[in-house]
Amino acid sequence: MNINALTQLFNQRYNRVPLVVRAPGRINLIGEHTDYNGGFVMPAAIDKHFLFAAAAHPAQQFTICALDFNEDVSFSLNELKPGHRWVNYLMGVVEGFVRRGKEIGGVKVLFKSNIPPGAGLSSSAALCSGFGFVLNELFQCRLSRLDLALIAQEAEDQFAGAKVGLMDMYASLFSKPESVMLMDCRSHTHEYIPFHTTGFELLLIDTKVKHALASSAYNHRRQACEEGVKIIQRTQAGVQSLRDVSETQLLPYQVVMGEEIFKRCHYVVKEIKRTETAAGYLKRNEWPAFGKLMYETHEGLSVEYEVSCPESDWIVNTARESRITGARQMGGGFGGCVLCLISQPEKKMFIEKVQEKYFAQFKKEPDFYSVELSEGVSRIEF
Ligand code: GLA
Repeated sequence: MNINALTQLFNQRYNRVPLVVRAPGRINLIGEHTDYNGGFVMPAAIDKHFLFAAAAHPAQQFTICALDFNEDVSFSLNELKPGHRWVNYLMGVVEGFVRRGKEIGGVKVLFKSNIPPGAGLSSSAALCSGFGFVLNELFQCRLSRLDLALIAQEAEDQFAGAKVGLMDMYASLFSKPESVMLMDCRSHTHEYIPFHTTGFELLLIDTKVKHALASSAYNHRRQACEEGVKIIQRTQAGVQSLRDVSETQLLPYQVVMGEEIFKRCHYVVKEIKRTETAAGYLKRNEWPAFGKLMYETHEGLSVEYEVSCPESDWIVNTARESRITGARQMGGGFGGCVLCLISQPEKKMFIEKVQEKYFAQFKKEPDFYSVELSEGVSRIEF
């Protein structure tokens, strides 16, 4: 459904011209599981998004329709409690506004998405960021984009039980077209790096694997990092997060941490460094060197952080054997998408190869998406 069709539908239902907002999903070039460790990440918004059509309404009801599921939900400010799937996220956002003392009234909202759910493209962060933006505009709350990102993060934590970092919502809110961001997750600041890949493309391969335990395993990884930091703090009080620790500083803690915690911290410390190095390569358009780091990240995710799965490993290995410039599993883990940095002449051959062999191996059809980097959450004027 395009913007005109959505606007017309809103008009027919509510006899009003709506505010229309676009909220994109994201990719992350490198810097995985580093956001909640105060490290660096390199995300960008993509050309897949939520579209919201919305208007304020005097009745103090939030009346929201998810067109993709054909589901209508209505709730009021005193009915905010975790319950139903996508409604959780929206209630969480409403609560974030209330907690900040913002006066918001009722709304009528229709929304729709073309972000494949469960593919690691942060559809929930886009939903929360976009809905927050809608409320902020309609009720002139004057919250900054960073406030909206923090509200979206709280919503995922408190209403959906996922203790996620800030990367996804920050990327959805702050991205610019044809750029990636080097985001510093400790200071909540970023630098834009132009992304002009002459001859190269970013290709996503959706493994179609959705792991039911992904969010509990995610929280568990985060906990292991926090325990690692506590152990280091016993002897180095100044350390606040794994961002403050180099690989050399970490090595002496191997025995006291035990194998599991050490492996997790070791991966994170190296990944933070790798992301800084990768930013240098990107600025100089050194694609082979950048791609090599993507493979190193995947190795770390698979062996030390243990958040990969046979399907992602298989695609990344096939990419390596086919001499594709870079490939790695992207996002929280346990499936979702593999991101490939691929030269244009190789793309067709590689897609055909994966299509044929992946099905033979896993009895699943992968999806392929060529990605364009897009603008962050924005109001659409028409
Ligand atoms: C998920 C989380 C992010 C980040 C990534 C891993 O996408 O939502 O905050 O931690 O996993 O890098």
